[in-house]
Amino acid sequence: SAQEQRGGISEHLFKYKNFNFLVGRTTPEYIDSLESFEIRDSDAFLVTYPKSGTVWAQQIIISIYEQDGHPNECSTNIERMPWLEYKTAEYTLLPSPRLFASHLPEYLMPPAVKEKKIKVVYVMRNPKDNMVSFYHFSKALADLETPKSFEQFFEWYMTGHVLASSWFDHIREWHSSRDQYDILFLTYEDMIMDLKGVVKKLCSFLGKNLTEAAIDQVVEKSKFATMKNDSKANYEHFPQEQFSGKFLRKGQIGDWKNTLTVAQSERVDQVLQEKFGDLPLKFIWE
Ligand code: A3P
Repeated sequence: SAQEQRGGISEHLFKYKNFNFLVGRTTPEYIDSLESFEIRDSDAFLVTYPKSGTVWAQQIIISIYEQDGHPNECSTNIERMPWLEYKTAEYTLLPSPRLFASHLPEYLMPPAVKEKKIKVVYVMRNPKDNMVSFYHFSKALADLETPKSFEQFFEWYMTGHVLASSWFDHIREWHSSRDQYDILFLTYEDMIMDLKGVVKKLCSFLGKNLTEAAIDQVVEKSKFATMKNDSKANYEHFPQEQFSGKFLRKGQIGDWKNTLTVAQSERVDQVLQEKFGDLPLKFIWE
């Protein structure tokens, strides 16, 4: 089939340097240009595999920076912290401190990020909840192939035939390169279980000395219910014909239990064991 000819990926995706990108949103030339992307010392990056809590961490980080005051407080989060791999503005013209989000794998990041020891926050989420969130997202986002069933999506996910390729590779590559970066690893589950603790960790990592009251404000702004009603943060500016779901969908740990079969869950455990057996990573499942 045509999909097989494309190496198993849908026509919505293209593979470049072994990584799946969205057709029409970026190009191989632009991805190549990132190799010489000019990095400023004050830049900070949020890196995730899709559906790991990117928009949430984006809100937390932006709110932390806002406590210091910043040059474009009025913009939406996607403007304040654009995706590096999608050129949605002239990034050289953005005022400092610049914030970027990215789903790029470690080996496609601008090399200056590690050379200059730029701050990178990496957020990961357990793969079972991650894939359920990704499944619902794929049904709602016009830019992605709509899976016929969860079963079908499960196969795409487990074989890396989705946007951003394999979750397993993404985590593994970033994690095994961690010593070369100034990087903070967080999990979605940490954020659910102790939001204030995560905000404090982020403040200290990002070198922001916030008062207790300011920290409480960041926590309040980043709660699920607050974000759902925050038009700068909830991505509801996306036209309905492009995205028919909610970026803030359920926001829970353990929703996978309503979707994965026992066999699917065991297969994830097995692949995790095979691929991550040697990594000091523990995931929270409920
Ligand atoms: P669910 O689909 O499981 O609800 P990303 O931003 O990387 O696309 O991740 C999206 C996931 O993060 C969604 O998960 C969404 O609900 C969740 N999320 C976003 N903001 C959140 C918040 N403030 N609290 C909890 N979960 C949040």
